[in-house]
Amino acid sequence: MQQQPHPTIDDLVERKQEAIACPYPAFARLRADDPISYNDTLGAWVVTRYDDVTNILHDTERFSSLMPTGPQAVGGALAAGMAELMSDPEMAETFEVVMGNRSRAAVLLNADPPEHRRQRILVNAAFRPSNIKALEDRMVEVAHSLLDDIVGEPGERTSAEIIQRFCVLFPMTIIASALGVGDDDLARFKRWSDDIVMPVGNHSPSVEQVRGYLVSSREFADYFREKLAERRVEPKDDVISDVANAELDGEQLSEAEMLSMLQQFLVAGNETTTNLISNIVRHFAERPELQERIRADRSLIPGLVEEALRFEAPVGGLFRQAKVDVEVGGVSIAAGDHCWLLYASANRDDERFPDPDAIDPCRANLRDHLAFGHGEHFCIGASLARAEGRIATEAVLDRLGDIGLADGNTFPFNDTFVLRGMQELHIEFDTLP
Ligand code: HEM
Repeated sequence: MQQQPHPTIDDLVERKQEAIACPYPAFARLRADDPISYNDTLGAWVVTRYDDVTNILHDTERFSSLMPTGPQAVGGALAAGMAELMSDPEMAETFEVVMGNRSRAAVLLNADPPEHRRQRILVNAAFRPSNIKALEDRMVEVAHSLLDDIVGEPGERTSAEIIQRFCVLFPMTIIASALGVGDDDLARFKRWSDDIVMPVGNHSPSVEQVRGYLVSSREFADYFREKLAERRVEPKDDVISDVANAELDGEQLSEAEMLSMLQQFLVAGNETTTNLISNIVRHFAERPELQERIRADRSLIPGLVEEALRFEAPVGGLFRQAKVDVEVGGVSIAAGDHCWLLYASANRDDERFPDPDAIDPCRANLRDHLAFGHGEHFCIGASLARAEGRIATEAVLDRLGDIGLADGNTFPFNDTFVLRGMQELHIEFDTLP
């Protein structure tokens, strides 16, 4: 049998490691030869060019966000796992509470206008600059205290696995602070976070994983119902108080909407930011000249964060569903069809980004990338994520000198392209005084 020179979209859909690790040659071929192609396994159109992706994102009249993680994510093993658990009365009640909340509330990521617009207006203020600014001191403190546990004696060359010990814990601790979770509750919060993100991209979860998802979703809701009530009585200057008290023309968000939103902040905000920071550390380790350049001029860090987002989009692609028959880029898409919008491919489109396979923190159109999406659903946490990326990078450069790759890296990736990220990264470095 003839060997494929590069992984294909089918390999990506089948979640093959080499395709997830390096999908860019396949994307380049598609952008050039078949920019919108139907994939039978996926049951969706694969959209690869920048202009086509942005056109669909802006067309909320004709494209719905109801299933942003795709047709395969619905039903299947998740539903089968839930059905199996229903014989246990306690789990049946948990299911009622968790899924009851969910079905009443299409929220943010999977809501369409006009409902989506109302929710965004109500909750946008929670991520206003003063709330992010207020978190910055905490970010510096958390970043340094996590790195304290990794570094060796000053002057010593040390090696460490950086993702689990820093890139995962940093955004999780920050989002916990933003949501008013105290240090004592962090371990529970981490468990909820891991369990609740599970269905994103995992299309064959075990019954135990489904149980974890349901139990953690319920504990999360119970915990935050109380927090929301506290903040209604005694608001503070934080994200959760703004969600609890958001009001437009006398109308507030329902409790189910608030709880779904908080859960989305967790799911959408944690692993994505982990992936961003992991990618930045890997870029430093693999590109000594880039590392030197940024060390010599820290004002380039915000540009580097944008380029890291463009170069390796932490959300590889999300879906839209056509509400009516529609033509995009000369291709006819039927009502009901799904489209996989590959942000990771659009970000390497040379029609938009000259020399797209180079990391250039001084690129003229640094913020044009689609790593945060575009239009109505543009990431609500983008300012928070940018601040986290910048502060984590500063702390890494402050504490770790001459970062390189340690021996033994195999660069294992998570088994999903929706939230695309590495599981481990072993680096070596000089501990700075
Ligand atoms: C939306 C990426 C961090 C919360 C999105 C979308 C993308 C994205 C691509 C658009 C979804 C779509 O097109 O349907 C990222 C990346 C991040 C990040 C790459 C970090 C590097 C965060 C953080 C939070 C957050 C820190 C929250 C605290 C959300 C929410 C939405 C969203 C709630 C839905 C917004 C809506 O549909 O109106 N994000 N995100 N994200 N993000 Fe982020």
